[in-house]
Amino acid sequence: MTISTNDFQYISKLVLDLSAIVLEPGKEYLVESRIQPLAKKEGLDSIEDLVKQLRSGPQNGLRSRVVDAMTTNETSFFRDIHPFETLKKFVIPDLIKKREAARELNIWCGASSSGQEPYTLTMLLRENFPQLQSWKINYISSDISHEMLDRCKKGIFSQLEINRGLPATLMVKYFERHGTEWQIKEDLRKMIEFRYMNLSENWPIMPGMDLVMLRNVLIYFDVDMKKNILNKIQNLLRPDGYLFLGAAETTLNLNDSFERMDYKQSGCYRIREGQKACNL
Ligand SMILES: C[S@@+](CC[C@H](N)C(=O)[O-])C[C@H]1O[C@@H](n2cnc3c(N)ncnc32)[C@H](O)[C@@H]1O
Repeated sequence: MTISTNDFQYISKLVLDLSAIVLEPGKEYLVESRIQPLAKKEGLDSIEDLVKQLRSGPQNGLRSRVVDAMTTNETSFFRDIHPFETLKKFVIPDLIKKREAARELNIWCGASSSGQEPYTLTMLLRENFPQLQSWKINYISSDISHEMLDRCKKGIFSQLEINRGLPATLMVKYFERHGTEWQIKEDLRKMIEFRYMNLSENWPIMPGMDLVMLRNVLIYFDVDMKKNILNKIQNLLRPDGYLFLGAAETTLNLNDSFERMDYKQSGCYRIREGQKACNL
C-alpha cells in the first residue's frame, strides 16, 4: 500500500464533498489504483505529491479530475436486459397512449457514463416505435464526469464495448465503423442533449419527466443523499411517469411515495396514486 492514511482521508473527503461518492476505509486500494495513474498523467511522482498540490489551493481543475478518476463508469448496452424489455412491452406503449394528444415525451438519463445506456434507449425507440419520429422527444442525458460526457457526445465505442450486449443487427444498422472503433450514427446522437450535472448539487430546472433512468448510481451515495435525490425525482416526475433504478437499488425505506412495478427484475417504479410532490 503506498497511500498514507492522511492522503486517503483527504481524497475521500474531497470526493464526498464534490460528488457525494462515499469512499469508506477499506477502499484504499481503489483510490490508489485510480489516483496513481492520474498523478502520473499530471506529471507528478506520487499520490503524496498530488495531495500536496490539492492542499496548496485551486489547481486548474485538478479537483474535478480527481472526482472524474474516482467515478466508476461500468456500463454496457442493454444492461440487465429486463428493464429494456419492460420499456419495450409496457412503459413506452403506455406513455405513447397517454401523451397521444401532446405528442411529446420528456426523458432523462441521470448517470449516462460512456453512453451505452442512453443510446440503448434511442435504438429501442427507433426499432420499436417508429411513430415517435414525428413526436417531440426531449431527451437529456447527464453525468458528473467530463471525460464520460465527452465520450457520450462522440458516441464512439471499442469492439470490446460493442461486444457487450449489443445485438449484431443493431450494430450493423445504427453504427459506422472507424478503424477498430464504432460510432453511433449522427441522427441517433442528435436525439440526445448531453449535459454536465452533479446529482448531489442543486439541479437545474428541467421539464416534468415522463421517464427517468437513474441506474447504478445511488449505490455510491449515503442514505441521506439517496433520500434527497429520490425526493427530487418525486417532484420532477409527472404523476404517471416512470423511474428505473439499477438492479441493486431500491426506494424501499428511502421514499415511500414510490411503488415498485411488478415487472420482472426491471427496477421500475411509479409514484403511488394520490401522492403529492414532497417538500424539499
Ligand atoms: C456505474 S455508472 C452507471 C452507468 C449507467 N447508468 C448504467 O447503469 O449502466 C455510474 C455513473 O454515475 C456517475 N456519477 C457518480 N456520481 C455522480 C454524481 N454525483 N452526479 C452525477 N453522476 C454521478 C459516474 O460518473 C458514472 O458514470
